[in-house]
Order: sequence, then structure tokens, then C-alpha cells
Amino acid sequence: MLTQEFVFSFREAAPYINAFRGKTFVIALSGEAVAGGNLAGLAQDINLLVSLGVRVVVVHGGRPQIAALLARNGLMPRFHDGRRITDAPTLEAVKQAQGMVRYEIEAALSMGMPNSPMHNAHLRVSSGNVLTARPLGVIDGVDYFYSGQVRRIDTEAINQRLDTGELVLISPIGYSPTGEVFNLMMEEVATQTASALRAEKLIFLIESRGVTGAEGQFVSTLNAHQAEDLLARNTQPVDVCAYLACAVRAVREGVPRAHLVSHREDGALLVELFTSGGNGTMVSRDPLVKVRNAGIEDIGNIIALIRPLEEQGVLVKRSREHLEMEVDCYSVLEHDGKVYGCVAMHTFPGSDMAELACLVVSRDKRDAGFGETLLHHVEQKARLRGMHALFVLTTQTAHWFVERGFSPADPSQLPPPRQRLYNTQRRSKVFIKPL
Ligand code: ARG
Repeated sequence: MLTQEFVFSFREAAPYINAFRGKTFVIALSGEAVAGGNLAGLAQDINLLVSLGVRVVVVHGGRPQIAALLARNGLMPRFHDGRRITDAPTLEAVKQAQGMVRYEIEAALSMGMPNSPMHNAHLRVSSGNVLTARPLGVIDGVDYFYSGQVRRIDTEAINQRLDTGELVLISPIGYSPTGEVFNLMMEEVATQTASALRAEKLIFLIESRGVTGAEGQFVSTLNAHQAEDLLARNTQPVDVCAYLACAVRAVREGVPRAHLVSHREDGALLVELFTSGGNGTMVSRDPLVKVRNAGIEDIGNIIALIRPLEEQGVLVKRSREHLEMEVDCYSVLEHDGKVYGCVAMHTFPGSDMAELACLVVSRDKRDAGFGETLLHHVEQKARLRGMHALFVLTTQTAHWFVERGFSPADPSQLPPPRQRLYNTQRRSKVFIKPL
């Protein structure tokens, strides 16, 4: 059993390992994540990513560490509109605290204990003056002093270091051409870095598991539009709110996927990255589910989907040759690049009725609504071809079609060429849906 699980997981991870090699990921590591007790685990997983050939940029924060230092120095933290007001004494505390956080992260990334996955793999961390900043200035009469905004990111320098296999660790501190130091927001730095580097992913490590939907349910995937709708309801915890807004921005600026993943749950990052279902919440630019016309390279997938049902007698047997000849009638459903379903549509000369056949969804994705998606696809395709009705022949799945608008009909209503093919022995029932 354990072997089976391992093999299943490893095979599931393989396409992601291959897809991620050479890609750039920007990981936002908040001060809370650094202090959260799982830094060693996170560092190990980040190390693992680098060893698999991912180009990793880590942007860290330090809010709780700054707060603690200010308190120790007897200084009051001041915020306006969610942004720190960084006067000169505060800036000193920011520099100190961020310096300490950075050393802690470097230390964690340098660990290579004999029984850790990173034994013998030495990771090089690099950093430097990659952020040029400008002051926020005075907004609504509030002077932000040394709180700044990113003005320029030296992507060339970052890329050079990534090219040599180093991890780039960026502190949210920028310099002005006149030599001043500015305190930046780590989520802004991470988001802007991801879009400037045309990163494949932007990952925020958060307190909770991910985003909660309107009914209190966990939300695994969203597009930018859905994420904005959720943000407008104002029901997410503050960290999720801030990071989700950044995720939307990154995706709008071309980053294909932005993720919110727990920093508390050990291994959550690996599950998010190397399984198709993930662990946290993903905001994706492109739809995950795609239905497309099948090609000859899909025959193997189609066979794998339909064989078990042929054996149960749910579907009539189709030979490989037959499928190859008819492949143009087939469409397949992909989720994240993997085929999970298929359907065929046949038309008959002189008839405005099309046949829907061979609608199959893989066992492990039965509840994902893929059947409806495939049905919808065929309905649309049939309408485009000027069809006025869709029919289906079935022996065992009548209820599914009836629930979706099909009604029982007589074989004599079928287009004549199809009537001649009607297999009286199978005694399939005919169902028709007007379009
Ligand atoms: N592992 C894949 C990726 O990193 C898919 C992740 C899906 N995550 C999710 N929360 N639904 O792109």
C-alpha cells in the first residue's frame, strides 16, 4: 500500500518537476513566517526547489520583528492606511530588524544536517542592491518620511545570479540614487519582482491554509476576477486580503500563477507545487480546465478512459483502428495539461440531429463537474454546425442525461443511417435533447 501511494505521488509530481526546471518562482516570506516556528522546514523545501533547477527569489518581510524592536526602544509604531510611517528612528529599527531576519533566513537556508533532504547540497544565497526606491512622500497631509516605493528592479543582476544557480534573497529595503535608504512593503516588492522577472509563480506563505469562500468553504483555485469578487466582500483575514490583492495584480501583469500557502503546515509548499490539487489557494491567469479537439496523440488517453467502461458493458467496444479513424469526432478535457475526459460527436448527412457518444470522465475526477463541461462543449459544437437536436444511446446512464434535459425517444426518430446501425441486441435506450 505504502509503495502504491509513493509511486502514485512520485508519478504525479514528475510532470511538475519537469515543468518547473529553469522557471523563476518568487517566494514572499513574511516576518510572521520567519518567526512562525517552521522556518527550518520552509528553508528545506525552498532548498529542494533550487536543487530541482527552479530559479528561486525569496523576498522577506519583518513586521513583527520591527514591532518588537520598536517596543524595546520605546518607540511607538505608526501606520496610516496600512502603511508604516518610517521616521528616522523607526528607519534605524527597520534596518536592524530586517538585517536580523535576513541572517536568520540565510542560516536556515545553509542547514544541511545529515538526515535532511539537503545533505550534501550546498545552496548559495546572494543579495545586493537590486532595488531602487523613491519616497512615498506626503499623502493626504501625512508625511511617510522614509517609507518608500519600488522605482526600479535590477532584473539583470538578479537573473545573472539565478543563472549561476544561486538563490536571490531580497530584503524590502531600497536605495535612492542620492544614497538614501527606504523602507518598502515586502508584498509590493515580491509582486513587482515577480512581474519584472516574468516569473512563473509568485508564492505567499500565510498563516492559514488559504482563501475562504462566501459560504465559509475552502477555495482551492480562483481566477483574478473571482478573487476580486471575494476581496470586495471583505471577509478574509488581513494577511490573506493583502496577499490575495497582490496575487491578482501579479496575475493581471502576466504571472501565470500566484499561490497562497500555509507556512505553518509542514510540507504544504511541496504539496501545493507537486500535486495537481495543491494544498493552498491558487490564483491562475489561464483557465485550468480546457476542452479541445482530440488528435492522434490522444488515442492512448482515450483508450485508457474508455476501456474500464467497455469491460463493464457501459460502452460498446471500440478498437484502436476504429478510434484512429474517428478521432476527429472526439474532444478531450484537460485539467492542468492532463486528460481526464473525452466525448465524441457524430453527424449524419442530411440530418440536423447529432449523436453524442462516448462521454467519459476519469474515475478520480467524477465529482468535478467535468461531465457537464463535456456535454456543454458538444451542445455548443452541435449548435455551431446548425444542429437542432442532440441524441444519445445508452443502456446504463439514462438518469444522468435525463437530469440534463434529455427525454426518452423512439429509435425510429434517429437519422436513417443511424437507425441502420442501431444494435437491437444491446437494446440501448434513445434520448433526445432539442438545442
Ligand atoms: N501543482 C500545480 C502548480 O503548482 C497545481 C497547484 C494547484 N493548486 C491549487 N491550490 N489548486 O501549478
